[in-house]
Amino acid sequence: MLLTKMKPEFEISEAHERKETALDVKQLNIYYGNHRAVKDISFTIEKNAVTALIGPSGCGKSTFLRSINRMNDLIPGARSEGIILYEDVNLIEDNINVVALRKEIGMVFQRPNPFAKSIYNNITHALKFYGIRSKKKLDQIVEESLRKAALWEEVKDRLHDSALSLSGGQQQRLCIARTLAVNPKILLLDEPASALDPISTAKIEELIMELKKEYTIIIVTHSMQQASRISDKTAFFLSGELVEFDQTDKIFTNPSNQKTEEYISGRFG
Ligand SMILES: Nc1ncnc2c1ncn2[C@@H]1O[C@H](COP(=O)(O)OP(=O)(O)OP(=O)(O)O)[C@@H](O)[C@H]1O
Ligand SMILES: [Mg+2]
Repeated sequence: MLLTKMKPEFEISEAHERKETALDVKQLNIYYGNHRAVKDISFTIEKNAVTALIGPSGCGKSTFLRSINRMNDLIPGARSEGIILYEDVNLIEDNINVVALRKEIGMVFQRPNPFAKSIYNNITHALKFYGIRSKKKLDQIVEESLRKAALWEEVKDRLHDSALSLSGGQQQRLCIARTLAVNPKILLLDEPASALDPISTAKIEELIMELKKEYTIIIVTHSMQQASRISDKTAFFLSGELVEFDQTDKIFTNPSNQKTEEYISGRFG
C-alpha cells in the first residue's frame, strides 16, 4: 500500500479511472526554497509507452522526474504542490510510503551506479530487503532481470565477479536489471545513455523499446535523435514550464509552438 489513507479531494479523470494512464500530472509546482523550478505543469503519461522529456539545461526535467518517486525528498528545501496521480493516489502527499513507491516506480541515473558488490548481489540486494531469501527464487529473479535488461548472455558465467569489472554500458544495463528485479510498473530514466559510447547507447535504446511492452517509461534526454527514435510522446520543457506536449512525430515534424521549433532545430539549448 502506498498510502495509509485514501481520500482524493480532487476529480479523477475518466481515462485514469479506466486505467489508461499511468500518471496524471495536474498543476504541479516544485520549489527549491523560494525558487520555483517547475511551474504549474499539467499533462498525462500514457501506460506502456515511452515519454521523452526534452529541453535545455536547467529547465526542470530532472526535478520533475525526481518528484515522481519522491527523490526530491532527499534535497533540503525542496517541496512540491499539486497532483501527480498514480492509481488514484496523489504521490506528492505527505503520507505516501516512499519505500513502497520506489519499488513501483524505479529510477536509473545518468552515471551507472552499481554497488561495489558482485553482479549477482547487485540484483539480490533489494530483494533481500523485501524479504525474499530462498536461493532458488533469488537465482530465478537474477536470471530473469538480467535477461530483461539484455545482459544475461554477457554475464551468465561471471555472476560473482564485481559489478565494477563491467563496462560502463554493461553497468548501466545492470542498474536497469536491478531496478526491474523488484517488479516496478514505471521506469524513470534520467539521461541513461549520455555517459555511454554509441554502441552501448544503441543497446540501451533497443532495450527501452523492448521494455515498453511491459513498463511505462519516462526518459530525459538531450539527444533529439534519441527522443525521436525511441519515444511515443515528447514533452518540451523551458524554464520550468511545459511548453508543448504531443506525439513525438508531431513535436519533431510540425510543432505547434515556435519555441519548440527553435529548440528542436538547434537554435538554442
Ligand atoms: N538540489 C537543488 N537545489 C537547488 N536548486 C536546484 C537543485 N537541483 C536543481 N535545482 C535548480 O532547479 C532548476 C532545474 O534543474 P534541473 O536539474 O531539474 O534541470 P534539468 O532540466 O534536469 O537540467 P540538465 O539538463 O542540466 O540536467 C535549475 O534552475 C537548477 O539550478
Ligand atoms: Mg537533469
